[in-house]
Amino acid sequence: MAAAQTLVSFEPATGAELWRGEHGNVDRIVATARKSWAAWAASPLATRIELVRRFSNEVLKDQQEFAELIARETGKPMWEARTEVEAVMAKVEISVRAYAERTGQRKLDSALQGSAALRHKPHGVMAVLGPYNFPAHLPNGHMLPALIAGNAVILKPSEKTPAVGAKLVELFNRCGIPEGVVQLLIGGPEEGKALVAHPDVNGVLFTGSAQVGIAINRKLATEPGKIVALEMGGNNPMVVWDTPKIADAAALIVQSAFTTAGQRCTAARRLIVKDTMYDEVIGEVRSLTDRLIVGAPFDEPAPFMGPVIDNATADQLTESFLYLLSNGGKAIRHMRRLREDLPFVSPAIIDTTAMADRPDVELFGPLLQVIKVSDFDEAIAEANRTRFGLSASLVGGNPQQYNRFWANIRAGIVNWNRPTNGASSAAPFGGIGFSGNHRPAAFYAADYCAYPVTSTEMEQPRASVGVGFKGS
Ligand code: NAD
Ligand code: SIN
Repeated sequence: MAAAQTLVSFEPATGAELWRGEHGNVDRIVATARKSWAAWAASPLATRIELVRRFSNEVLKDQQEFAELIARETGKPMWEARTEVEAVMAKVEISVRAYAERTGQRKLDSALQGSAALRHKPHGVMAVLGPYNFPAHLPNGHMLPALIAGNAVILKPSEKTPAVGAKLVELFNRCGIPEGVVQLLIGGPEEGKALVAHPDVNGVLFTGSAQVGIAINRKLATEPGKIVALEMGGNNPMVVWDTPKIADAAALIVQSAFTTAGQRCTAARRLIVKDTMYDEVIGEVRSLTDRLIVGAPFDEPAPFMGPVIDNATADQLTESFLYLLSNGGKAIRHMRRLREDLPFVSPAIIDTTAMADRPDVELFGPLLQVIKVSDFDEAIAEANRTRFGLSASLVGGNPQQYNRFWANIRAGIVNWNRPTNGASSAAPFGGIGFSGNHRPAAFYAADYCAYPVTSTEMEQPRASVGVGFKGS
């Protein structure tokens, strides 16, 4: 038998090795999940809820260690890693509530016709494929609702953040949920593909790039029985219109574009600005960005953002910046590698108004494109010039303009005078087009974790024939 491949993860901020582990055996893990899920599904809902509440306690006990691990493996600042751990814990009660509200039981009694009941059943074995930018919070956002609904879960974390995935599964295993019900699959795209295609996997809950999400969709096109939830990226617009509050607008823009080093699916990628405000807004954004601290997770004073995930990503981003620059873009703030050997990059801003063909791709890092327009309808048209449709925000404008913006923008998240990112777990979260397949996560994750079964029921048969019978 060939030796299992080893996966090694490195800290982006230092280059040091953080974790190593062997790739998992997909068939064996799926077989264990298959064996374990029926008893889990048959256990009372109250038991499942009690156990996920204990999971929250286990996270609380290890919250400092967990946050440090997230900070080390992703490179995000420690303050931000702490908010990720808080989101993991908060998701428990949100998921309990969502299960009851979205997929709970309903019974309608009628003396003559018995009762009509709506109940939900779990799908079976769910594969959760995670991204690296929120390696705990986002897989957890699928796992908790899936477990409450009675599914077995296999988490395959991103190959860039396996240590956080392993820790998350350890915390689930510690809370008393049977080990076969929550399992870890270490590996990369090959293990992801094998899991997606496995005949004993009933659902695929994916968070990641559009490219991979579309490949999964294509692979499963002939398997309508497998539930597939795709949470993908965005090329998100932020429109700045008439507002006297330039400093606030700049703060919203910087927060939207550069939080988590721009590695958020909801990050603002395209800033669309009214021409008469351009100089003032861009001047303020540039000077705020100049003050922004890029640093390692545990630096003091705390940085605003850390490195991107690895050197290959930093290289791709600097190459994308050069591509925009050499195809008509005008640099407002250059993207530079701050350390030759480590993936720290400076937040970049580039005016692409004059570009004939702006590439409609997600540049997953601190790179903001600016487009100048003169008319509000043109701003909306420009915002919609994308195949993605995750989030969008209008900064400034009046209520009528916001109504027009809201009605015409194609996106699953449309905000007013708020950032494009920082979405709440207590609301549905998902996009259209290349951003998702109409199976929003967060509060609505409950919907894809169970399927409805409608029944009409009487304790005794009672029926009489109607029209169309001869004699008696
Ligand atoms: P990715 O698509 O490269 O990988 C995601 C997961 O899919 C990983 O676990 C990977 O190993 C696995 N995978 C890769 N190829 C596969 C295949 N062919 N079949 C099955 N699995 C495969 O994503 P990433 O780079 O880790 O994460 C960043 C991306 O995630 C960005 O595009 C970002 O916008 C997106 N994202 C979306 C959301 C959302 O909720 N909409 C949230 C966070 C991140
Ligand atoms: C993300 O999931 O990548 C970002 C969520 C958000 O900040 O809205």
